Amino acid sequence: MNREELINAIVAKYEAIGENPDTYLEGLLHSQLMNYWDYIQVDTLLSLQKPRTPFADEEIFIIYHQVTELVLKLIMHEIKQITGSAQPTEAEIIERVTRANRYTTMLITSFAVMKDGMDYDDYNTFRLSLAPASGFQSAQFRYIELRCTRLENLVNATGKERLPANPSTEDYFEHIYWKDAGLNRKTGKKTLTLRQFEEKYLESFVELANEMRGETLEEKVARIENPSDELLKKLKYFDKFYNIEWPKTHLNTAKHYLDAKGEEKAATGGSEWKKYLHPMYQQRKFFPEIYTAEELEHWGKD
Ligand code: HEM
Repeated sequence: MNREELINAIVAKYEAIGENPDTYLEGLLHSQLMNYWDYIQVDTLLSLQKPRTPFADEEIFIIYHQVTELVLKLIMHEIKQITGSAQPTEAEIIERVTRANRYTTMLITSFAVMKDGMDYDDYNTFRLSLAPASGFQSAQFRYIELRCTRLENLVNATGKERLPANPSTEDYFEHIYWKDAGLNRKTGKKTLTLRQFEEKYLESFVELANEMRGETLEEKVARIENPSDELLKKLKYFDKFYNIEWPKTHLNTAKHYLDAKGEEKAATGGSEWKKYLHPMYQQRKFFPEIYTAEELEHWGKD
């Protein structure tokens, strides 16, 4: 477009909405030029790291959790594009799941920042000041699950035995795998970490699960006729990265700090973490229909 065509297009844009183009053209004369720090909100971003103890490595712990939340936001962004579309094409799903895979790989390959990048004794001291907070309380982690798959895929085999016939959304949440982190099913007692988490987010989880009925990524995929090998491969990668590889990398880090010498220290969130965090027990799968019985049988096992 040359300059005259550009100006004509701008004039046409404002006339089309009944506005006087001159007002907007004159406004351009006075508007501020963009700069990096305002656009990226650098000052705000860098003001959000607030350690609670004097240990230098606590800042690494905070920043890396924040980085993870941002990367989870990137994954969510892609999944939302799929679940928000009436029926995305196979090519659109492949593209977006490939992006989600790239982001999830970032989370897996960077986790050494936690495992090898903090002083062991300092970590084990400052973490005690952070109880009962736990990464378990990351809501984005659960929102992604709820957008990706039907609720029944978030209930493991023992949970399924407890479910009533024709379970409601609330029934599923009673037996969802992550309750095992903080609910003692014999006494009915819940850890403070779980109580806090449910008080803050359970309502929004139930709301999102209801909104997603029939619209999850899993269900959008199921409507693709004769899915290509490429699509199936990308979906399997996503399931493997998000539901097996990241949990294993994370669990190995927990073992490194809490159980290096078999001492099985208590987690800040109070879970029976060694069992709870293992993908073999969680059995969280986004696309169970695309696997063979044998693949399902070996889910999360080494
Ligand atoms: C030294 C680093 C870390 C250790 C030792 C650790 C340890 C644990 C433990 C023991 C749990 C079980 C719940 C509890 O009782 O607290 C847990 C849960 C969890 N943590 Fe971490 N964590 C670490 C870093 C992170 C980071 C960086 C994130 C990123 C946000 C994170 C996200 C999560 C999530 C999402 C869960 C729940 C997992 C699930 O339900 O499958 N953790 N963590």
